[in-house]
Amino acid sequence: MGKKKIVVFTGAGISAESGLKTFRDSGGLWEEYKVEEVATPEAWEKDPELVLTFYNKRLKQVMNAKPNAAHYAIVELEKKFDVQILTQNIDDLHERAGSKKVLHLHGEITKCRSSSDDSLIYNVKNGQIRQGEKCEKGSQLRPHIVWFGEYVPHMDTAAKIAAAAEIFIIIGTSMNVYPAAGLVDLVPSNAPKYLIDPQAVTKDYIQNIVVKRERAGTAVPELVKNLLK
Ligand code: APR
Repeated sequence: MGKKKIVVFTGAGISAESGLKTFRDSGGLWEEYKVEEVATPEAWEKDPELVLTFYNKRLKQVMNAKPNAAHYAIVELEKKFDVQILTQNIDDLHERAGSKKVLHLHGEITKCRSSSDDSLIYNVKNGQIRQGEKCEKGSQLRPHIVWFGEYVPHMDTAAKIAAAAEIFIIIGTSMNVYPAAGLVDLVPSNAPKYLIDPQAVTKDYIQNIVVKRERAGTAVPELVKNLLK
């Protein structure tokens, strides 16, 4: 009998205590920037320089940030459970904390890719993507991020992972953005679920869920301690 499967579904809130802005909180990124100006294919066509500046700024912030107690607690779970992270976050704090199985649904800020061939993916060099920096086929490099209106890759894989979850933990997401937000609907109804978010909105149609209206840095280590007992 292998280890019990825990799936951890995270959003921007888990990285808030690492100093990275969320999107829809007060002071969030979408208050500071218009989505359509920096996070859509149209924005990229219209003003690539503005888009690159936006993501280069966020990459610098990610590079200066550190994983927090919540990221590290999830790594602890691997002692007793088969842990798979499904994250909407583009930061690499889960990986830097030591998590092994992390599936990024909305891309990764530490990577860039060819603007003409999605399969050509590179690590961002020198902490920024520059205008004129090209892929091996001669096309401009772009952030390896899923912009609004773009296809969300790995959803079929993520759906299979959610459907096989024996425990499902949701941390720091407003559950506003689909298809990612729909993953919880695929989790077996009898699997225990936890939602950790200070402003958590209970989705009362979800069965077997415990809501903890607390910050991740406090509530995740506590939950992990209980699960490891
Ligand atoms: N601990 C836990 N949760 C927190 C904390 C914290 N310290 N601080 C804020 N939160 C919660 C907020 O209450 C909110 O519910 O984190 C959630 C962040 O929600 P959003 O800002 O909407 O971020 P997220 O759900 O990850 O957004 C999903 O939208 O903009 C797109 O692609 C982007 O991946 C992102 C997606």
